[in-house]
Amino acid sequence: MTRRRIVFRGLLSAIALAALLGQAPAPHAQVAPQVVTPVERGRVIADQECSSCHAIGLDGESPFEGAPRWRDLHRRFDVADLAEALAEGIMVGHEAMPSRAFAPDEVDGLIAYLKSLETPPPR
Ligand code: HEC
Repeated sequence: MTRRRIVFRGLLSAIALAALLGQAPAPHAQVAPQVVTPVERGRVIADQECSSCHAIGLDGESPFEGAPRWRDLHRRFDVADLAEALAEGIMVGHEAMPSRAFAPDEVDGLIAYLKSLETPPPR
């Protein structure tokens, strides 16, 4: 309780100080795109647009029957080869799968994310 109040007062004085300096925090402050790493960008897209069917992490099974686990893709092909397909929106395989053309930074993000899942084959 006391601690909360102190934090709150600290916040108020920070805002007051910022206002004094003419730098009141923007009401809709957003993370600048530069600070988002490609892997992080890819993870967000994967989470929002792909995870309803694919297992996109290092464990778990794909929710959609027949959708490959992303962590296995690199065993079948170089995931960097997907760049063109993603950019052109000619995404592979399945009628249920949405196909849309991804922007260059989204492609980089998805590939970087897929690469981040690459692990040595199980022994
Ligand atoms: C509605 C379900 C669904 C969604 C959503 C979905 N996929 Fe798929 N995806 C599939 C299925 C099913 C397959 C297997 C197709 C096959 O092998 O015939 C597949 C296959 C793939 C493959 C492997 C292609 C190959 O050549 O083996 C990749 C890569 C892929 N999806 C990427 C994505 C990406 C990226 C997204 C998000 C933008 C996404 N998928 C969203 C269902 C989905």
